[in-house]
Amino acid sequence: MTGLATDGRVDRDHAHALLRSRRSIRWYRPEPVSSEVLDRILISAGMAPSAHNRQPWRYLVLTDSFSKDALARTMGSRLANDRQRDGDPEAAIRHDVERSYRRIVEAAVVIVVALTVKPMDWYPDATRSRAEYLMAVQSTAMATQNLLLAAHAEGLGACWMCAPLFCQLEVRRILGTPKDWEPQGLITMGYPASEPPSAKPRLAILDFVKFKSSPAGIEDV
Ligand SMILES: Cc1cc2nc3c(=O)[nH]c(=O)nc-3n(C[C@H](O)[C@H](O)[C@H](O)COP(=O)(O)O)c2cc1C
Repeated sequence: MTGLATDGRVDRDHAHALLRSRRSIRWYRPEPVSSEVLDRILISAGMAPSAHNRQPWRYLVLTDSFSKDALARTMGSRLANDRQRDGDPEAAIRHDVERSYRRIVEAAVVIVVALTVKPMDWYPDATRSRAEYLMAVQSTAMATQNLLLAAHAEGLGACWMCAPLFCQLEVRRILGTPKDWEPQGLITMGYPASEPPSAKPRLAILDFVKFKSSPAGIEDV
């Protein structure tokens, strides 16, 4: 594979630079993304680790205006209904629905992220079933992070949107996805409309990591 040093390693500084410079990019220029670029991104997504290597992720790639419009409208009307039930002000609902609609239809590519539990193990009890289901979710998130990073490496902007998770049935119905595909989110993608934003604040390492280097506190087993 090109891009690797002769010893097969990726350049460390470039790798960290890629990981650390990715941002969620929400607005794009209208130019299309070529199928060569999309293929490279999807191949890299598919190289993610997965539980038992079952690769439960599924992606529906939308590039035509009709599908994007249908998806955005469907999710928008569900969002509006949910927010009306919550008692939110009409103007705020309309604003959010319109913004969400624009973000989807103005993206050159929209990728619906789904998972299938078909290839996963089956258990008769709730505890192991839940763990197995979570492994499918985790694996799908890992592939999708690969996808986001690969898009970034291609000079594309991308952003995960959670909306399909809140209306899985409607999304499946409007897009005609296979019955076992469970929508988890969507990725909007395109060439960025503006300079990338600065990094959002992050926790310091010690706020999310504890290091343990002695047996103190471990019970005898
Ligand atoms: C599971 C998940 C769901 C997200 N849902 C949304 C969303 O619905 N709308 C949105 O604008 N961004 C969404 N994001 C993007 C986050 O807001 C973003 O990653 C976070 O603010 C950090 O910013 P950064 O990605 O630029 O580092 C989501 C990210 C993840 C991982």
